[in-house]
Amino acid sequence: MKQNIYLIGFMGTGKSTVSHKLARLLGYEELDTDAWIVQRQGRSIAEIFEAQGEAAFRDMETALLEELAEGERKIISCGGGMAIREENADLMRKNGIVVLLTAEPETIFDRVKKDNGRPVLNGNMNVEYIRSLLAQRNPYYRAAGEMEIATDGRSPEEIAEKIVKEMKNFKMIEKIF
Ligand code: S3P
Repeated sequence: MKQNIYLIGFMGTGKSTVSHKLARLLGYEELDTDAWIVQRQGRSIAEIFEAQGEAAFRDMETALLEELAEGERKIISCGGGMAIREENADLMRKNGIVVLLTAEPETIFDRVKKDNGRPVLNGNMNVEYIRSLLAQRNPYYRAAGEMEIATDGRSPEEIAEKIVKEMKNFKMIEKIF
């Protein structure tokens, strides 16, 4: 039975903020994969990329998803690259409902431009780069997501309420309650 809600999508699509609101609405526990990896590793994502490379970080993400497969009734806010590995997408769909949050490149840029904690955007903090990386990743995001919600111009409360409503419409909620 599906018991978790996985929030996926590009950096700056509001996964963490929406996760807080959803957790309150549904009474679920929350887990942020980036925060969890940082805590367990005792260093920042930038430091992990620097010391061990991106592939090592991606392995940590997969290992965490495997660990989480045992749990239930969690809202899992995923790092922006989580859905790119097919293995990760399979794990998520098997153990929960995968919700894809989207935003226009301009919106994403606006939300992430002041933050230098994302190594993927280091030296590439501009709308054009975001647009091209997004285009590259979109097929993977869409293949993994079972529901897609555009976040531009919407508050986190609205988005969380829309997710719950859509889950009810599609009878997905029955699988998790
Ligand atoms: C990444 C997104 C980040 C974080 C890491 C890599 C990506 O998470 O996992 O910097 O490749 O898109 P957020 O989407 O929470 O910023």
